[in-house]
Amino acid sequence: MEVMQVLHMNKGEGETSYAKNSTLQRKIISLANSITEEAVVGILCNNFPDSLGIADLGCSSGPNALTVISEIIDIVQATSFRLGRPIPEFRVSLNDLPCNDFNDLFESLPEFYNKLKREKGGGFDRLHWLSQCLALPLTSYSYKQVPPALDSKARTPLNRGKLYISKTSPHCVLEAYLSQFEKDLFLFLKSRSEEMVPGGRMVLSFMGRRSVDPSAEESCYHWELLARALMSMASEGLVEEEKIDSFNAPYYAPCPEELKSVVKTEGSFVVDQLETFEIDWDGGVSSNSISEAHKTDLEKFSSGQRVAKTIRAVVESMLESHFGKQIMDDLFYSFV
Ligand SMILES: C[S@@+](CC[C@H](N)C(=O)[O-])C[C@H]1O[C@@H](n2cnc3c(N)ncnc32)[C@H](O)[C@@H]1O
Repeated sequence: MEVMQVLHMNKGEGETSYAKNSTLQRKIISLANSITEEAVVGILCNNFPDSLGIADLGCSSGPNALTVISEIIDIVQATSFRLGRPIPEFRVSLNDLPCNDFNDLFESLPEFYNKLKREKGGGFDRLHWLSQCLALPLTSYSYKQVPPALDSKARTPLNRGKLYISKTSPHCVLEAYLSQFEKDLFLFLKSRSEEMVPGGRMVLSFMGRRSVDPSAEESCYHWELLARALMSMASEGLVEEEKIDSFNAPYYAPCPEELKSVVKTEGSFVVDQLETFEIDWDGGVSSNSISEAHKTDLEKFSSGQRVAKTIRAVVESMLESHFGKQIMDDLFYSFV
């Protein structure tokens, strides 16, 4: 089955849900805040609009889903005030894959509206939810197609015992992933260029790497750990090794040079700002400095457990559709 048809962040509000295990992504949103702010101010100062189209591409569900939109509304409100202009009308589009937990998202909308009214006044009654011309698309690390050369239906597996690029992967695997990334990003940029208004800006967040080497640990480590955990389960007869050989992550962590090169080749956009951040996989949450009574659910776990929970909330749906539900608990316990 196509990954895009099964992929979703873990639904609901349970222990393994994305809602409860997305502190890492929350941190990334706040690290990117100054870049988002510059983009919004740039749009407003260039040609102040009556109506501002914003699209969160890959909004997911849980507490992060409306955070970026809420922060943008704050920035627009403050900038409009500073420029002595009335706050523009907002047209907000929330976009994700079909299996996303949209129920959770819809259920959070009334509280979101109420909060806007409480905190920002009645002028927000006219918040519309439709998409036409976009001034500000935002996207966070969308999934890629699996390179066709590595597709499980393809002949001999090229990347044995691995789920993604690794130090032992043959060069053709690295090339296949890069080429797929280039195609996907090219198409993404071309599509956005047709939807955006002149003078619009786009904020993109990627899981990336600083090194030019695509097999550098910084970008492959979590897939490497998962592959090791699965291979160890295979040695106990809990998973078939062929299953591991035939899984290829629909993922690519580009380096800045690769990104800039596709933007240049596609030609519709220029890169205003490109920043790289290093972030701990456990979301940088400290469990030592807080008293037991004040800890959130996630803070009660060890760093290793938090990393496993963060990764599980994101990749479980795609691993489950390939390896089966029955091994998921064991896999993520052995992953710690
Ligand atoms: C790691 S989550 C980030 C969610 C949220 N923006 C946050 O910061 O917490 C990435 C989201 O992008 C969505 N996504 C991935 N590929 C996508 C695509 N091609 N089109 C739409 N959504 C996509 C996933 O379903 C997932 O909800």
